[in-house]
Amino acid sequence: MSKICVIGTGYVGLVTGVCFADLGNEVTCLDVDQTRIERLKQGIMPIYEPGLEQLVSQNVRAGRLAFTTDYRQALDGAEFAFIAVGTPSGVDGEADLQYVRMAAEAIADIAKGYLIIVNKSTVPVGTGDWITDIIRRRRNGTRPLLQFSVVSNPEFLREGSAINDFMYPDRIVLGSTDRQAASKVAELYVSLRCPILITDLRTAEMIKYASNAFLATRISFINEIANICEELGADVQEVALGMGYDKRIGPAFLDAGLGWGGSCFPKDVKALAHMAVLHGTQPQLLQAVMEINRNQRRRVVYKLRKALNNLDEKIIGILGLSFKPNTDDIREAPAIDLIHLLQNEGAIIQAYDPQAMENARQVLKRVKLCETPYEVAQGADALVLATEWNEFKQLDFERIYQLMRQPIIMDGRNLWNPEPLRSIGFTYFGVGRGADNHINNHQPET
Ligand code: NAD
Ligand code: UGA
Repeated sequence: MSKICVIGTGYVGLVTGVCFADLGNEVTCLDVDQTRIERLKQGIMPIYEPGLEQLVSQNVRAGRLAFTTDYRQALDGAEFAFIAVGTPSGVDGEADLQYVRMAAEAIADIAKGYLIIVNKSTVPVGTGDWITDIIRRRRNGTRPLLQFSVVSNPEFLREGSAINDFMYPDRIVLGSTDRQAASKVAELYVSLRCPILITDLRTAEMIKYASNAFLATRISFINEIANICEELGADVQEVALGMGYDKRIGPAFLDAGLGWGGSCFPKDVKALAHMAVLHGTQPQLLQAVMEINRNQRRRVVYKLRKALNNLDEKIIGILGLSFKPNTDDIREAPAIDLIHLLQNEGAIIQAYDPQAMENARQVLKRVKLCETPYEVAQGADALVLATEWNEFKQLDFERIYQLMRQPIIMDGRNLWNPEPLRSIGFTYFGVGRGADNHINNHQPET
């Protein structure tokens, strides 16, 4: 059992804290956001994440998990301080490190004894060394030197399956100049029985960016193929299936749609491209990956404009606002981009999401937020599926047909089988479904 302090109680910090507690450690989660901490103490989660509330309450009751805004209390006796604060995009796409700096400075000012500082935030290559410098500079002079080591431990969890991803990771990556410190962090994960790669700081930091950029590249690749499929009469879902059987390619992250969004892919691809330019290389592929992603949203607007002649005063219903299912996160959500593009052309928007309505209310203007998918369909000239929530899989399409002013469906995630919809009378558009065949879950021939 180790004593751990986790700085930041967002998606990564809170999940990290509760999972380490569940593995038997004594964890204190710290945040500068007082309201967030007060609510956490009352058992109210700041984010929607399946299974999180129950796991937090179990571990608080077991006395292994506590919340505070006080660095002194959080660092008291801690052997490890995990930094899990946000690293949003700055003006030029660079990662904004102000919160990491504040966390490092607070550690420098308050920590005592020997501390292993583990960085879980996604940070530019070189940040581990920068954290070391900040702490050294702040501790020299009259105060006693702080004994510490910095370890990079990038996080690969996905929102919506965060607890499962933490508990059953594909790998743990650790980077440090201090191998002993990295090995100590490795011990925290040993019961998870997965490969643990110990490398140097900069390589670990790069593994995180390269992984996210590669996943985003796969999605942009399949979206480009989808657009070609549409023109040439092929079906991108079957193309992806056929490609995915090849073990060298694999089936994951080949779903064509409205493109990638969320709090990480957009900012991380941008930050990697920014790092590349800053150091004199040309990130041509990354630029194309981002451009293809932007065009995926524009392409839907183009298709709708074509189907409806123009979008002025047309009522467009949007199903799904979060950047993907099983989360209430709307940061860089394709649905939000799409709504802005449609509003620019005069469209009137009505929308619904199972979890993201509160967040959406904060950022969307002139959008009617509805209680049900059927209210979204009411009087609409087109219905767009932006996020493939389970709840949208089985809708009463006969009812929706009756409710809509024009029966046009734009399935931005290829969730529905086009044939039954067409037989009801809908005009159906998917993404890359040029062959208009629905997929039959083909099994490989034996
Ligand atoms: P988040 O915005 O949900 O949470 C960050 C938290 O840190 C906030 O609660 C904020 O109040 C707190 N904070 C800011 N400054 C602080 C300080 N000085 N001291 C204490 N707390 C402070 O962020 P997130 O989504 O959890 O992401 C955190 C980092 O992890 C980012 O670098 C992100 O790129 C990376 N990451 C995120 C995910 C994900 O799925 N969200 C996955 C892997 C990696
Ligand atoms: C992603 C990575 O998958 C995590 O490994 C990583 O830790 C995290 O970013 C991060 O660094 O924050 P996340 O953003 O939660 O996780 O969500 P993903 O499941 O990766 O989806 C990202 C976006 O890609 C979503 O908008 C999703 O709809 C889209 N996507 C995903 C597709 O369009 N097609 C696919 O085949 C897969």
